[in-house]
This record gives sequence, structure tokens and C-alpha cells, in this order.
Amino acid sequence: MASLDIPFVETLSEREFEHVCALARRQFGLDLRRGKESLVSARLGKKMREANCKSFQEYFRYVSRDPSGQALVNLIDALTTNHTSFLREPRHFDFLRKVALERMSARERLDIWSAACSTGEEPYSICFHLLEEARKQPFQSAEGAVRVLASDISTRVLSTARQGIYAEERVQGLDEEWKRRYLLRGHGPQAGSYRIKPAVARLVEFRRLNLIEKLTLDRRFQVIFCRNVMIYFDKPTQEKVVSQLAGYLEPGGYLLVGHAESLTGISHSLEYVHPAIYRKPAGR
Ligand SMILES: C[S@@+](CC[C@H](N)C(=O)[O-])C[C@H]1O[C@@H](n2cnc3c(N)ncnc32)[C@H](O)[C@@H]1O
Repeated sequence: MASLDIPFVETLSEREFEHVCALARRQFGLDLRRGKESLVSARLGKKMREANCKSFQEYFRYVSRDPSGQALVNLIDALTTNHTSFLREPRHFDFLRKVALERMSARERLDIWSAACSTGEEPYSICFHLLEEARKQPFQSAEGAVRVLASDISTRVLSTARQGIYAEERVQGLDEEWKRRYLLRGHGPQAGSYRIKPAVARLVEFRRLNLIEKLTLDRRFQVIFCRNVMIYFDKPTQEKVVSQLAGYLEPGGYLLVGHAESLTGISHSLEYVHPAIYRKPAGR
């Protein structure tokens, strides 16, 4: 017999779903598709109850009238997919190490941007690899040689990323040597979790940035990771985002996109290098 404690779930009407689609597109380029109604209803229903609203209409009014903008940020948090993991799509890290090796041998600083960093596994994986490369360089410490900007639109994931604490199952893909070098094992109430060591965390600056807005950053990057986020954008938004990212690449710098993504079908100024790796032509 079916369980009787199935929670009561509100479903967005067609008009309400269209309202959310328009808002998601306008505010952060998200391309919500038909067929996602029940997922979106479930996620927004939770937010609606947290805000003590009795209907989606009331919740949308509350979001649009919140002068702090925090309610909108929370709504966006509920719609984004934050799946990530340490060392995800490892070929990109092999490639990063080649770029890093050249830079470090020339004693030039390396600036990397993880542009949709989710809960932090991607920027910390970047650091682990760069620290491994720095270990091979005589007289070179990573501090000063490496800077990683890590950004996301979601304040919720950024707060997890800044804390840098991960449950054992999240770090099980890292070998024991790397765990010893880069993580602190939790004891007592923290048993079963790991914390990123301060010497690693210091290399990363976390910021909330919306990739579809015009950004003003103070530097250009040799490598930008923008992985598994553009898949959620429509083509015009992808074009705008890639154009902005290309502007923040150093000439000869690389844009890495998710392995399931590609820039095929959108117009851009970058050269194809390998699947999911693009390069800004030197001299631009
Ligand atoms: C699936 S995760 C990808 C994480 C990581 N890059 C990886 O490949 O494992 C997508 C991330 O993109 C973020 N995101 C979605 N729209 C964004 C936007 N307009 N600007 C910045 N980040 C965005 C989400 O909050 C989410 O954390």
C-alpha cells in the first residue's frame, strides 16, 4: 500500500511556469525547458514555504518587492544545478599542468578563473594540480606564483566552497598522498569529513559573479574553466558569455568548457584546440 505521508506539493500553473522561465532567462540566462515543470514546482515550493507564502503568486510578489535582492538570489539558487566533483573531467587538468609548467619555468605568475565553481571542488582541484607542478620547480612556492579566482551566481554553493569542508565520500577519488598533502582530516564531531588546508585555500578568491552580466575584473587569465554551465544557457546567451570570457583571456590563453559542451553553432573568436578546449589567438 502506498505511504500516506507523501508531502503536499504545489504545482505551478502554465502561466506561473512561464513567469519563472522569463525571470530565469532575464536574470541569469537560464533556458528552462518544458518538461521541467514538476522539478521547478518542487524546488520553488520549498522556497515558497520557507518565505511563509501561501501561493506561488504571493511568493513571486515577495521576491519582486524584496529591496535587498536576496529573495531573488534564493530563487535562483533553487533553480540552478550544482552537481560537481573533485578532479571532474581529468583531461582538462592534464592540459592545465602543461600550461602551468611553461609558465612556472618562465617564472611568470599563473592566473586561473573557475567561472562557475559550484561548491568549490573545481577550484580546489585546480590548486592541487598546480601545487603538484610547483613542487617540481626548484625555488618556486605556489604562493605568489598562482592565483585562482572562483565564482558562481549562487551564494549557497559559494558558502560551502569558502568553508572548504567535504564529507568523506566527496574526497574518495583523491589518492591518499594528496589527501595528506592538501586536506585536514576531521576529528571528534568533525570525524568523517575533510577540510581544505589553509595553504591551499589561500590561493583561491571566491566571488559571486553572474556570467550574463557585464563584469569588471582587474586582470586577464591564462586559463578559464567555464564547465557545465553553458549547457543551461540559450544560444544568444552562450554567445554573450563566451565573448565576455574571451575578453578576459590573455592572448594565447585557453577557455575550457564541459566535455558535453562545445562552441559549435555559436559565433566566437576562439580557435579550437582539442574537444572542450579553445584558445584565444595570440596578439588579440
Ligand atoms: C553543474 S555546476 C558546474 C560546476 C563545475 N564547473 C563543474 O563542472 O563541475 C553549474 C554551476 O553554474 C552556476 N551558474 C548557473 N548560472 C550561472 C550564471 N549565470 N553565472 C554564474 N554561475 C552560474 C550554478 O550555480 C552552478 O553552481
